[in-house]
Amino acid sequence: MKKPKFMTSIGGYNLAANRYDEKEGYLNSFEQKKLLPLLGNVRGLKVLDVGAGTGRLAVELAKFPGTEVTALDVSDKMLERLKKKNPAITCIVGDAEALPFVSGSFDMVIATFLIVHLKNPARFFDEAYRVLKDGGRLVVTNINQKDPPTVKTSEGDIIIESYYHRPEEARESLESLAFSIEQEVMIKEKDVWVNQILIARK
Ligand SMILES: C[S@@+](CC[C@H](N)C(=O)[O-])C[C@H]1O[C@@H](n2cnc3c(N)ncnc32)[C@H](O)[C@@H]1O
Repeated sequence: MKKPKFMTSIGGYNLAANRYDEKEGYLNSFEQKKLLPLLGNVRGLKVLDVGAGTGRLAVELAKFPGTEVTALDVSDKMLERLKKKNPAITCIVGDAEALPFVSGSFDMVIATFLIVHLKNPARFFDEAYRVLKDGGRLVVTNINQKDPPTVKTSEGDIIIESYYHRPEEARESLESLAFSIEQEVMIKEKDVWVNQILIARK
């Protein structure tokens, strides 16, 4: 059997985009329907979804009246699929570590299943802090994934560059950047944490 090919996020997600939505139920299971209620009232807010992918979350957020959603991702193929689901969402190809927005642009920045692909999430947290308005919130999830999964694509099996981050590490990194942690929810399966949800305020 051929060994899976190791790929960066851009190359990997561009290849994986056309089958990504098949995993929606599996991805949702790491949130156990707890994420959206935790966000509270997002009506009328300016929200940036970083690493938005095919819009699993962005599309839901855009359903709230008056909510203006911007989706950013390194993979143009993932965003192409998002755009088809809701053309009103502004899609921008870009890097979480160098956000192409002026400071103080958003009420909320959200990033689900993103930091698992970042070697140093603090670079993204720093950027998120910058683009948030004073009092704005960063919502981030941190999946407990020590071994990255093999992903099937039309060009064979691949493994996408991934990094494991301990929950304390993620929390401390946010605090050291002057965020205050408002909520931390550990999603568990059979007493083992599978996903950490952090809500931090600027
Ligand atoms: C596991 S998917 C999550 C997609 C979506 N947030 C969700 O919850 O379904 C990770 C996404 O992060 C994107 N990504 C990885 N590294 C990135 C970076 N440095 N900047 C922006 N997006 C990135 C990938 O292209 C991919 O679409």
